[in-house]
Amino acid sequence: MRIFSGIQPTGRKHLGNFIGAIVQYVEGQQRAADAGDVAIFCVVDLHAMTVPWQPAEMRERVYDTAAILLAAGLDPEKCIFIRQSDVPEHTELTWTLGAVTAHGDLNRMHQFKEKSAKQKELVSADLFTYPVLMAADVLAYRANEVPVGDDQRQHVELMRDVAIRFNERFGDTLVVPELKIPAVGARIMDLQDPTSKMSTTGGSTEGTVYVLDDAKTVEKKFKRAVTDSDDPPRIAKDQSKPGVSNLIDILAAARGITPDEAIASLADARGYGDLKMATANAVNEMLEPVRTRYAEIRQDEDALEEIFAAGATKARAITREVMADVRAATGVGPRTRVPAS
Ligand code: TYM
Repeated sequence: MRIFSGIQPTGRKHLGNFIGAIVQYVEGQQRAADAGDVAIFCVVDLHAMTVPWQPAEMRERVYDTAAILLAAGLDPEKCIFIRQSDVPEHTELTWTLGAVTAHGDLNRMHQFKEKSAKQKELVSADLFTYPVLMAADVLAYRANEVPVGDDQRQHVELMRDVAIRFNERFGDTLVVPELKIPAVGARIMDLQDPTSKMSTTGGSTEGTVYVLDDAKTVEKKFKRAVTDSDDPPRIAKDQSKPGVSNLIDILAAARGITPDEAIASLADARGYGDLKMATANAVNEMLEPVRTRYAEIRQDEDALEEIFAAGATKARAITREVMADVRAATGVGPRTRVPAS
């Protein structure tokens, strides 16, 4: 059972990334190791080139993200931890998979529609083919499982279709991966606008809780979270109560309990203030150790580069073989074996 997931490089990783993805990564690295396989986690710097970026900041943001993941509990001895651009098979496979990806399917991607609408100067070809690179990330390892938040569902479905189409056309070469979405917290919402997902680009700063926010800031953001005007206040999950439902999910995910258990723990609450404080405290308890370890790990960029170099060596032992099979199946490149006469 092999796991692969990727995350964009930014120091502003938020609670949605943490609960929707990073918590699953840490659980997955152990589960893969217990099953005698491996989990691969990737800081996707090439995906960050699909929208305008500052060259001077790119490497810094990669270090920031790597330090957050390591502080959260990824262990480069237990998993394979890589920077995407260090493993060239990802980009080579992207080109090959482009041959079995329908232009119309890429045109239907919600994320492409959203992001392209925001570009003022140029909608790049890379933004359009973003999901093909994402498919290559996973398929280059023959990974079985892709832990992500709900917003990546469509991209994972596309990579499954691409793998199936490749295998139909060229013979059974790639593994069709499964989507893995957390039971609670697959879609953490903005605290100020609980009908929109928490996000690095779209939402408000006040409504977005960053992993690296200090404890006071986290508390302030939760205290100001939008709830509803039900009188008396009702701590329950309900479509008509997006703000309260979001707080319940965050509380449950941060404590590692179910939403029903989170609701039961607030049976004596006097109002939404108690729900907000309980959630802020649970989030701070979850993030405090991460923030402390982050500060240490982030200082040593040489050590981070060494971790990436070791990760790339382990990764390429897998991706070179997969790429050799892909080249053989597609008839691209030199003969790999002298045919028996
Ligand atoms: P990225 O960097 O935008 O987000 C990283 C992970 O965080 C999840 N996430 C959320 N989960 C719950 N609630 C939210 N509000 C929320 N916001 C973000 C995302 O679903 C994601 O799992 N394209 C990917 C990166 C990627 C990748 C891959 C993922 C590149 N290659 C291969 C899996 C496999 C992305 O931009 O994630």
